[in-house]
Amino acid sequence: MEILHVSAECYPVAKVGGLGDVVGALPKYQCQLGSIAKVVMPAYRTPFFNKHEFDVVHQAGMWLGHQWYHFNVFKERTNVLGFDLYLVDIPGLLDTEGVYGYGNDTERFLAFQIAVLDWVNEWQDLPDVIHCHDHHTGLLPFLLSYAYKYARLKAVGTVITIHNAQYQGQFGWDKLYLIPSFDLWKSGLLEWGGAINPLAAAIKCAWRITTVSPSYMEELYEAANGLEGLISSERGKAVGILNGIDTRVWDPATDKMLTANYDITSYEEGKAANKKFLCEKFDFDPSLPLCSFIGRLVGEKGADLLPEIIGRSLHDWPGQMNFVVLGSGEPHVEWSLQQTRQYAGRNFNVYIGYNETLSHQIYAGSDFLLMPSRVEPCGLNQMYALRYGTVPIVRSIGGLKDTVIDFGDKGGAGIRFFHASVWDACHAAGRALELYHNEAMLRQVIQQGMSLDHSWDTSAQQYLEVYKAISS
Ligand code: ADP
Ligand code: GLC
Repeated sequence: MEILHVSAECYPVAKVGGLGDVVGALPKYQCQLGSIAKVVMPAYRTPFFNKHEFDVVHQAGMWLGHQWYHFNVFKERTNVLGFDLYLVDIPGLLDTEGVYGYGNDTERFLAFQIAVLDWVNEWQDLPDVIHCHDHHTGLLPFLLSYAYKYARLKAVGTVITIHNAQYQGQFGWDKLYLIPSFDLWKSGLLEWGGAINPLAAAIKCAWRITTVSPSYMEELYEAANGLEGLISSERGKAVGILNGIDTRVWDPATDKMLTANYDITSYEEGKAANKKFLCEKFDFDPSLPLCSFIGRLVGEKGADLLPEIIGRSLHDWPGQMNFVVLGSGEPHVEWSLQQTRQYAGRNFNVYIGYNETLSHQIYAGSDFLLMPSRVEPCGLNQMYALRYGTVPIVRSIGGLKDTVIDFGDKGGAGIRFFHASVWDACHAAGRALELYHNEAMLRQVIQQGMSLDHSWDTSAQQYLEVYKAISS
């Protein structure tokens, strides 16, 4: 079985969020199961790109509308990621330092998809499946089926994994001319809500649809940012497969970013050393419980609730807890977190920005990790927290519901609450405080969390079942 993953992110080459983690890990596990899994992504000018060596495996030119672009496909030389990594280099479009947020993202990712298919079209032996991730690669299933120049690729099965249905990549019909010629009778397959909608096109045209947790699949039938009706009508080819984590990258026993390494037998001293480091960095008293948030500061994550959750908790339990936030996102959330610092004294601190090393240190050095998400397709943070002996406090939604059992229930290793509200989150924080002071119970909860297996083993196998069902 040969699978080509096409993605905008892949850790450690380029990562903005969980998509990068997933595409950096799943193919590795698939290769271990005996499949040939490859990844192709844009050749952004990231530190990884600058540090590694590549061979040019393909050179060509392509039209994007009326504009001609030269492009290269590079292959990483040493198989450092545990699978073949290909980078599509399109000077003038994809050679950016960052991943998203450019005014011409539509053109950038459209050109990326065309380059990928132009290249695959030249392969002697075609892959069995092209696995697309999110809307940046959402036009591939359509192009494979209906663009004249890819007629040879028609029999290649396609899978679209929806990591987040909030982002759909819509653009106007005035840009239709950018899409390679296709049977115009099929234009309706591109359309949703009056625009060209790559995620909707993928839902319509892919052979299989997956979401990153079973609960999120169910939730999408009810609410999917306007796509709920479409997803419901395609449910016959849809399945929710829970994300895993890369247990080699995320292992407190070997993680080089930590102050001290530890495992389930030595977590008490290990976590204490990491907590001490964090508390020095953020000017906290290490004897108090430390509750953290890591993530994009956006409404879906409930990040706008944080200032009030922190403010109320510090009001109700003055001087009894510390909070730290690592993230960046909506300016008004960043601003109100900065404001919160002014009255929270030495009990709250915030780091605005993206910092991979600090994230590992926070997972290791915290007692609790708060996730008040309004929507959470899967969420990886809670699984990292569990593995690092940090108790997740999560709103019971999407993948959080599928991965965190409340410690009040059998086998529980976290704290769950049911509404994305300040009140519910504060109530959960109160339970965390109580748990912190019940040493025996806390030990049991932490050990339970650290012993859970959230690796990719099971889910990688489930993806293989999906591929098998669509490959000849
Ligand atoms: P999403 O993909 O929706 O942002 P996930 O929980 O799936 O959420 O994954 C988020 C990933 O990004 C995790 O690996 C998390 O540690 C990381 N992350 C998020 N924000 C930051 C940040 N500011 N600095 C470092 N890592 C971050
Ligand atoms: C998305 C989702 C997140 C998920 C990640 C990886 O960014 O918001 O919940 O964990 O993709 O699948």
